[in-house]
Amino acid sequence: MDLPGFAFERQDESADALFYSAPRLVVHIDDATIAALTQFYGETLTAGADVLDLMSSWVSHLPTQPPLGRVAGLGMNAQELAANPVLQDSVVHDLNADSRLPYDDESFDFVVNAVSVQYLTRPFEVFADIARVLRPGGISIVAMSHRCFPTKAIRFFHAASATERCHLVQQYHVRDEAFSKSRVVDRSPAGADPLWIVMGRR
Ligand SMILES: C[S@@+](CC[C@H](N)C(=O)[O-])C[C@H]1O[C@@H](n2cnc3c(N)ncnc32)[C@H](O)[C@@H]1O
Repeated sequence: MDLPGFAFERQDESADALFYSAPRLVVHIDDATIAALTQFYGETLTAGADVLDLMSSWVSHLPTQPPLGRVAGLGMNAQELAANPVLQDSVVHDLNADSRLPYDDESFDFVVNAVSVQYLTRPFEVFADIARVLRPGGISIVAMSHRCFPTKAIRFFHAASATERCHLVQQYHVRDEAFSKSRVVDRSPAGADPLWIVMGRR
């Protein structure tokens, strides 16, 4: 896929810490779409798995079954992360300023990213590091819909179709061989915000 030079630029290039300084204790997709995501996680996550919720906030949409191991969260606002009932540990970390994840190699079985991948300006570096913190055979799950904070989303996401966005996020996983394979699953509920899920296996 040829990417135009402006692909990863944003209307608002000021520091992300400014934009995310105030907590937003809101949801970003319809209830039915959240339910579809939780259902998908329930079918895909494994009992006892250690999970990193990347670009996390006060909700992670994770299921109660299967029971999970460690659930860690990384996001931009300490109050949002502190309000999240499923996180056992959390860190405020700007991935656009520092793409290296503050976790040891092979720490997690799953890394999930819900409705936030469009805000990454250095995604290939971030996904290479997601592969580093995943255990062999570990899985990246990126859930996408069609809403966003427009000034903070990369220009490619404004210009592209849903199919093109999914293809780009597949490229985040496989272009530099960080992941062995990637696939797209459409779990959009009828009459609600769409839900496209891109997965990559380490
Ligand atoms: C639309 S919210 C989604 C939050 C949560 N994942 C959910 O499903 O409700 C976008 C999230 O991306 C995170 N985020 C945005 N820019 C980020 C950055 N540069 N580094 C790390 N996280 C970022 C913010 O903390 C924010 O919580």
